[in-house]
This record gives sequence, C-alpha cells and structure tokens, in this order.
Amino acid sequence: MGSVGNKEVDSVKSSYDTFRLSNGYEIPCVGFGTWQTPDGETAVMAVSEAIKAGYRHIDTAACYGNEASVGRGIKKSGIEREKLFVTSKVWNTERGYEKTIAAFEKTLADLGLDYLDLYLIHWPASSSQYDNWEEINLETWKAMTELYKAGRIKSIGVSNFMPHHLEALMKTEVPPMVDQIEYHPGLTQAETVDYCKKHGILVEAWSPLGTGRMLNNETLKSIAGKYGKSVAQLCIRWCLQNGVLPLPKSVTPSRIVENINVFDFEILANDIVEINKMPYFGGSGLHPDRVDF
Ligand code: A2P
Repeated sequence: MGSVGNKEVDSVKSSYDTFRLSNGYEIPCVGFGTWQTPDGETAVMAVSEAIKAGYRHIDTAACYGNEASVGRGIKKSGIEREKLFVTSKVWNTERGYEKTIAAFEKTLADLGLDYLDLYLIHWPASSSQYDNWEEINLETWKAMTELYKAGRIKSIGVSNFMPHHLEALMKTEVPPMVDQIEYHPGLTQAETVDYCKKHGILVEAWSPLGTGRMLNNETLKSIAGKYGKSVAQLCIRWCLQNGVLPLPKSVTPSRIVENINVFDFEILANDIVEINKMPYFGGSGLHPDRVDF
C-alpha cells in the first residue's frame, strides 16, 4: 500500500488519524467537502453532523459562498478549535499580493476563526488568460507565504495546479505543502500526482465521487460488492490506498457517516490496478489551463 507524507496508508485507522505535511503539520486523513453545499441551514447542519460523525477536517472556499455557515456549523458542533483542521481558498478574482491578504482576512472573519490550518490558491492563473501568469501566481504566493510565516495559516498550498504551474513555486522560500486536484476513477492525473509525490506535496482529491458520477458505474459496483461496501466507500478508500487524501461532500447525514466508514476493509492490489486503469467516464470537465473564470 502507498504512503502519504511519509506515513503508511494502512496506519490510518479512523478519520481522527492524520498524515504529515512537509512542514511537519498534521492533517486528518479524510476531509469533509463543502463545494455545492447550499449556504444557510443546510451547510450549518452538514458541517455539524460531519464533526459529530468524526470528521476532523473541513474543506471550504470563499467562492463556495458558504463560509459563514460553515463557521456556524463548526461553532454548533462545540468542538475545540485546535482539534479541527480547516481549509479555505483564495478565489481567482483576488489574486495578487494585496488582494490575497484582504481575501484571507475576509475568509477568516466569515468563518469566525482566528487562524486557518490550510489556505490554498484555488486555481492557477494560466497562459490562456494572462501573459504574465507565472508572475501573478508568484505574487499570490508571496502573500500566502507571509501569512504562513506570521502564523496566521499553519500550512499553505495550491489547488488545480499541474506540474508546469507548480514549477515556479517550488523555487520559492516556502514551497507548497498541498495540491488539491479533481481525482476519481477515470481521472487520476498521474503526471501531477507523481510530480507532487516526488516533491513532498500532499495530494488531496476534490470530487472523489466525481460529484456523484461514479456511483452507477457497473465496474465499480461489482468491485464494491466484493467487499460489501458502497461505491462511494470504494472510491474514498481507493483514494487513500493511492496515497491521495479524499474530500467527499454530502449534505445527507447517513451518507456523511457512510463516507468515513472506510477503515475496516482493504482493496486488494489487483482491484486497485483495475480501478486505476478505468478510462475517463465523466468529471467536471474543468481543465486548469482552459477554464474561463
Ligand atoms: P448529497 O450531498 O445530496 O448527499 P463529490 O464528493 O464527488 O463531490 O460527490 C458529492 C455528490 O455525491 C453529492 O451529490 C452527494 O449527494 C453525493 N454523495 C455523497 N456521498 C454519497 C454516498 N455515500 N452515496 C450516494 N451519494 C453520495
């Protein structure tokens, strides 16, 4: 089985267990996704249910428009702040040094927190939109680095970065600790994952269920059936065994519980290989160098 941040994947036995980032900071091994979770009572309920169920890692972003409700869910759960790992992301309109600092302060205020565990650049500025895309990413990164060094953020990283986007940041004083990418059966982004592993960057999976698109696939159904598990649980466990930290999203209490019930089985190597080989059969269709937002 693979390893994440120098820790063997089979050593994590519950959602409380952690991997270690390159700076030594601990990150709980499964995160709770909140993309497309409606703002308001639904987000408050989902987040507090997730914490009650045992998630210790919550992933949100300014552009999800639900940070204030995510913050309320955290408060409602009654959990001590230091027992929770909270991630947010700076949105594309806020790139650059000054705007990133301001965006971070707004995110923190909206969440009602006084530090973040992880802050990510949500999407790279890319060559399809900017001639000076590398410079823009470096300016944003400078702000993230400063906030990190001041202790306002415990770890920093990126999202949707491919190796050519990461390259410039790797030469800076504090290289990224995390890259959060779309990752599910049929979309394994091998080049990016290999690059990250080689450079000590932990890979996180957004949409590990392909936003639900994986769930009716016959191959996955038949493999999941062998283990007496659901396709959702198979996909989440498969991420872990491939050394990728999954961030499943749900607003349904029973599914929230189901999605961390992934520590009592092990997918056999031949099944991992079979899933890894599956061709693309659906995903967001968002390519970091081609998005128009
Ligand atoms: P819902 O939020 O209504 O419960 P992803 O994590 O890949 O973005 O997928 C999220 C989608 O998958 C949502 O539509 C969510 O529905 C659904 N989902 C999450 N967990 C499960 C599950 N265990 N079984 C079926 N559908 C699920």
